[in-house]
Amino acid sequence: MSIAFDPQKRTFKLDTATSSYIIQVYEENYLLNLYYGPWIPESFIDGRQCRRPNASFSPTNPAVGGGFTPDAAPMEYGCNGTGDFRISALAVRNADGNSVTDIRYVGHKIYAGKPEIPGQPSTYVNHESEADTLEIYAEDAVTKVRVTLYYTVFSDCGVMTRRVRVENTSSYSCEIERVFSMCVDLPGMDYDLISLYGRHYKERNLERRPLAHGVQGIESKRGVSGHCQNPFVALAAHNVDEQHGIVYGFNLVYSGNFSALAECDFNGTTRLIMGINPVDFGWTLMPGDSFDSPEAVMVFTEDGLGEMSRIFHRFYNSNLIRGRWKTEKRPLLINSWEAAFFDFDTEKLVAFAKTAKELGIEMLVMDDGWFGKRNDDSSSLGDWFVNEKKLTGGLSALIEQVNQEGLKFGIWYEPEMISPDSDLFRAHPDWHVHVKGRTPMLGRSQYVLDVSREDVRDNIWKQMYKVLSENKIDYVKWDFNRNISDAGSAILPAKRQKEFFHRFILGTYDLMNRLVTTFPDILFENCSGGGGRFDPAMLYYSPQIWTSDNTDPIERLYIQFGTSMCYPASTMGAHVSANPRTGYETKGNVAMWGTFGYELDPRNLTEHEIEIVKEQVKNYHKYYDLIHYGDLYRLISPFDNPYRAAWQMVSAEKDRFMVTLVTMRVESYANVILKLQGLDPKKQYRNEATGEIYSGTLLMKAGLILNGVAHGTGESCVLYFTEV
Ligand code: DGJ
Repeated sequence: MSIAFDPQKRTFKLDTATSSYIIQVYEENYLLNLYYGPWIPESFIDGRQCRRPNASFSPTNPAVGGGFTPDAAPMEYGCNGTGDFRISALAVRNADGNSVTDIRYVGHKIYAGKPEIPGQPSTYVNHESEADTLEIYAEDAVTKVRVTLYYTVFSDCGVMTRRVRVENTSSYSCEIERVFSMCVDLPGMDYDLISLYGRHYKERNLERRPLAHGVQGIESKRGVSGHCQNPFVALAAHNVDEQHGIVYGFNLVYSGNFSALAECDFNGTTRLIMGINPVDFGWTLMPGDSFDSPEAVMVFTEDGLGEMSRIFHRFYNSNLIRGRWKTEKRPLLINSWEAAFFDFDTEKLVAFAKTAKELGIEMLVMDDGWFGKRNDDSSSLGDWFVNEKKLTGGLSALIEQVNQEGLKFGIWYEPEMISPDSDLFRAHPDWHVHVKGRTPMLGRSQYVLDVSREDVRDNIWKQMYKVLSENKIDYVKWDFNRNISDAGSAILPAKRQKEFFHRFILGTYDLMNRLVTTFPDILFENCSGGGGRFDPAMLYYSPQIWTSDNTDPIERLYIQFGTSMCYPASTMGAHVSANPRTGYETKGNVAMWGTFGYELDPRNLTEHEIEIVKEQVKNYHKYYDLIHYGDLYRLISPFDNPYRAAWQMVSAEKDRFMVTLVTMRVESYANVILKLQGLDPKKQYRNEATGEIYSGTLLMKAGLILNGVAHGTGESCVLYFTEV
């Protein structure tokens, strides 16, 4: 078992192959976090070491021998109002009107496997033996709020997950004001906080800053995880690079408002909490009610950012992505959006399919504009019936013709939205998200549908069910094109309006769950104006996400490098478009780091471009497994180097790899020596293009010398190697 309880010392030890995490039940049943870091054999670190002296103004509990000062102790799950003044993980307003919260250990349970979270996405075990779970029960003796702290240890993967359940066991109602999914108190503050910031068209840029005293962090209040900050942070020792150093990585399995905060206190220690953003959040618990937080995934490594990413990637590929398309080869697609925008009809789409087939493409996706009377973005969201003026003979006639050309067929939806100019809005003028007395803000000319309501979800579900069950549809792109303002639901009582944002996300999960369970063969791709909802919760429902609307291959380097911090290539939608920034080789080489596809009118390709595309398509099929499931090594990051970027994908057996180099700007000299990573030093590898053979040792120590290759701005190359 990867979790052990020592009844004498009253400690829990949670071990992965490379890390240890120790919790102590201290005097008066306070829960302390004694250790989180590299694996150690001991199951105990003296709790007194954790009591720090410089806390003269911090209140003390005299019931503990020698006194106990929560403010100066490494609390396992810091609560509000009883002497711990750092950012708290939990605050519950009780029937007396105060939010003083103090939970103490009352029991625990350890078992093999991992339970699901009712109604919410989470990572899972393929077999019970893959992980062990610890439930620690803690209670507030005064308010009778009972908390279960869940820890699951995936020992072989090097991953731990955490979450929390809060139950009201009293006979009065109470209100959760904040409930974070995890809390860690680390000694010292010599860390950089790494996060992924951005905006529409420029998602997930890497940002790294040293921690300073006080509270710092990232959040979303947009109703979705959003383009601007991703629910991922890492704490990394200052000297950490891709290959060396201590890193703690945290990723929240949640698509709504989140917050990840680090506080460095007067003792020079660091607390990190991550969970639902307490801003605009509150949750009433009636007697007997309970509330489940989303799950946080925690990765620890001593081997730098590269290894942290690979741990996340392997874990998400095996323990988050589900269903048929987890392992089955996904079709190579062409999407109509950048090819035609709203301007298409059956004839044009069939012509796309015909040409695409000749290139080796396997599926046509009809994007936005097929329903209601939608010819631009000003109408029809919510009217999910086909526009027969565009698609003569209806959807089935179109699909038949596309299938006849030998392609599968995919379709676009934006289920959580409603246009003021739609039949749905005219029939149900109170179904959009709004508050009484205010005209809500528009975003892309649309309102957000209140999917926290079951009747609203049922309506959208029925409309989608009709189309998806009556037609041969292989793929659905699920879009979401604005953030949520004027947050309120017409059916929630005033006291519960603060529950809206979380209820909205639960509603989205419910709708997605209905779809993926009813149509298990459909491949779902998530999207939110590109990558505005690129998070692990969405990956639970759809194995791939459109990474960004920005298909410029040079800009994509930054976006894909950032996204790869915790999300695997198998999840990153990456398409070749008509964007003129570089030639087709580089567009393809960059898109080949993800779920590859095209987003252009294939009839406009020149003879020369057609040959390039055919070669790309062939290579994507040939190296599919390596691209999707290989181990990623980021060799040169565009965030560090203004001239070039390079990365490598290595098979699990280390018998195949591919390495990509892209020149963003010409440097004065033309030689590039790429020191490769992750190879077997004893193996010999053949360059498939030239036949040259090198040892793994040479490639990693002396490096791969690329003389004048891919030297010009926007040029690139991909080299494939196989073990001899
Ligand atoms: C935003 C998406 O990111 C695009 O790919 C496209 O689907 C448009 N929405 C359609 O409105």
